[in-house]
Amino acid sequence: MLAPPSKARIAHARRLDRRAFRESTGEFLAEGPQAVGEAVAAGAAREVFVGSEVVPRLRGLVDSALGAGVRVYETADDVVASLSDTSTPQGVVAVCARVDIALQTALGQAPRLVAVLAAVRDPGNAGTIVRTADAAGADAVVLSAESVDLYNPKCVRATTGSLFHLPVVVGSPVGEVVAAARAASLRVLAADGAGSVDLDTELDSGRLAAPTAWLFGNEAWGLPAELRSLADAVVRVPIHGQAESLNLAAAAAVCLYASARAQRRPEERDPS
Ligand SMILES: C[S@@+](CC[C@H](N)C(=O)[O-])C[C@H]1O[C@@H](n2cnc3c(N)ncnc32)[C@H](O)[C@@H]1O
Repeated sequence: MLAPPSKARIAHARRLDRRAFRESTGEFLAEGPQAVGEAVAAGAAREVFVGSEVVPRLRGLVDSALGAGVRVYETADDVVASLSDTSTPQGVVAVCARVDIALQTALGQAPRLVAVLAAVRDPGNAGTIVRTADAAGADAVVLSAESVDLYNPKCVRATTGSLFHLPVVVGSPVGEVVAAARAASLRVLAADGAGSVDLDTELDSGRLAAPTAWLFGNEAWGLPAELRSLADAVVRVPIHGQAESLNLAAAAAVCLYASARAQRRPEERDPS
């Protein structure tokens, strides 16, 4: 039998829908069995709220949380739903400790592939890029100071647990990120629909095999000229049809996978 949460614990969790409260506590909410399971495995979960109806189905998750020393509360399904940001709550929510790390730490581990989001505002796009970067085997994702809050519930949900898998950095000005990327021997590529270099040409040239930081711009105004000028190359994903541009997360997927492909070709792999 699991303990019920106090009103104070529920109120605390509810307040985490506000950015200011997330920042003052260093906590955020993750919801759904997948994300909560990843949070427990990563040691980020502090407490878990499970709806009575789903407890039998989530026994494995509950046991692993308890085994990891996480407080698990059982409560009415509508109480857990009230902590959820979705119209289809999945019955389990975790209060987690934030997981972002310092820029220098993330770039100090000889990264080969990094995604940098410059003033990205849409939480769904930001979370999807974290998920895609994880899938493409990237070493880190950086959300610039002007970007959406990584811990926004929509963003957390869009990562589907990937924010617990790879280093994520938040809050650094983009200029600082570019300087740190150069210091870490990364080639800096700006992704831009009007770029002077075509991604396919870049891939064929072999240059994409180099350790790379990709810069991706804001959904409305893209990458400002001063940021593009900091890059080693401004690269466009060719538009073969009549679309004006690609959705940001789609463009990031194409660019990150092009780098992953180049870096993972047999001849690029370390023979040892
Ligand atoms: C929706 S676009 C911004 C469109 C904006 N109207 C502009 O002028 O750049 C948002 C971001 O997605 C990426 N992007 C979109 N289409 C791209 C393309 N064809 N090639 C490379 N990057 C692209 C870029 O990083 C861009 O800053």
